[in-house]
Amino acid sequence: MEKENPQLMERIISLCKRRGFVFPGSEIYGGLANSWDYGPLGVELKNNIKNLWWKRFVHMRDDMVGIDAALIMNPKVWEASGHLQNFKDALVECKSCHQRYRIDALTMDGDRYVCTNCNSKDFTEAKGFNLMLKTYLGPAEDATNVVYFRPETAQAMFVDFKNVLETSRKKLPFGIAQIGKAFRNEITPGNFIFRTREFEQMEIEYFIKEADWKESFNHWHKEMWSWMTDVLGLQEGNIHELEVPDGERAHYSKRTIDFEYDFPFGKKELYGLAYRGDFDLKNHFQEAPYQQEEGEEKMYPHVIEPTWGVDRSVLAVLCDAYQEEEERVVLKLKPMLAPYKVAVFPLLKNKPELVEKAKEIYNNLKKDFVVAWDDRGNIGKRYYSQDEIGTPYCITVDFDTLEKEEVTVRDRDTMKQEKVAVKELASFITKKLHG
Ligand code: GAP
Repeated sequence: MEKENPQLMERIISLCKRRGFVFPGSEIYGGLANSWDYGPLGVELKNNIKNLWWKRFVHMRDDMVGIDAALIMNPKVWEASGHLQNFKDALVECKSCHQRYRIDALTMDGDRYVCTNCNSKDFTEAKGFNLMLKTYLGPAEDATNVVYFRPETAQAMFVDFKNVLETSRKKLPFGIAQIGKAFRNEITPGNFIFRTREFEQMEIEYFIKEADWKESFNHWHKEMWSWMTDVLGLQEGNIHELEVPDGERAHYSKRTIDFEYDFPFGKKELYGLAYRGDFDLKNHFQEAPYQQEEGEEKMYPHVIEPTWGVDRSVLAVLCDAYQEEEERVVLKLKPMLAPYKVAVFPLLKNKPELVEKAKEIYNNLKKDFVVAWDDRGNIGKRYYSQDEIGTPYCITVDFDTLEKEEVTVRDRDTMKQEKVAVKELASFITKKLHG
């Protein structure tokens, strides 16, 4: 992908709005800064990503189980985890226009920060700004009722560790997975759905014996690459690894890798992989919570944490798949990710026998796939419209269908057409999707 291309980002945002992937949140009220809603196609794409993740990392493995915990947890969780104390970004304010910035989001001119709003180089001293999003539970807005929306899904996996252990009877090594919303009162959200105050994470806390941490880290490192390239179909050349150096990692982490992606607004963090030691379980459990075998000493398992942002996954997938060709805009999504797997068209809208046959095929395919119906305009326009939203296969029902029970299937990427028997359609598409 071309590096830093703001026009490209604008075109992707415009496509998202026009075709119903992502809309500005609360738009009819003038919007709410950096809030976005997933529309009919966006929610399909996002659910496909989450479902493939859950299938791969929970259902396909014997060493993983899932949970779905509450968004608001007892505030003691955040005391123990260190978030109330330490989950801060350095905030500065421009003395001239009073715009506030996260210090690492500012650009420098020589050794001075520059205000992107008014070009002043005069800022207040940096101070720590806690990112926890606060609210009150219950009718009284007093200090005893203060609670926080979780800033990561991870802590629930630690807090629920014993309950999961007792109900699932898992032994080390094993992991707990969760997909869900997280909230951060970000100082400088922006870049579309890249950094928002409300977002979704897919996280795994993988519990191991300390001696196995390197092996497990390497395993998850490979898994994350395979997820990005084989499942999401991201081009390898657009992904970079950042080995987070000593001094920049959380104090408890012996190793952290950030996976970065070449977004049109620059190279930015997509996912992370961290070795968290036994820091979290020690914070939450006064007594060691785990025993491998009866009679053995209790211990604190160590943790490898691979973490994925859902919204950043959606954004990377859209950026990677977006292509402008001579006569069309096409989203070359992996078929398994595409909102619609198939579109069905009657060749002519005003021939009831064609419409009826096409509806029959459409209704049958709906049992197995998410299917689009289009009878507007001509076939060329319908292809254009489906290419733009990444539908991998378009089926046209014509007079041959009535005579010979076969349809024309057109492939999004090659634009080639082939005849397929109506009774073979479902298995033809299934094979293509998994091929
Ligand atoms: N439990 C570890 C953890 O939360 P993180 O690096 O702070 O680590 C994990 O967040 C992932 O969540 C990031 O790699 C990114 O994909 C996503 N993420 C973090 N903050 C985000 C935000 N404000 N908006 C959208 N996604 C975000």
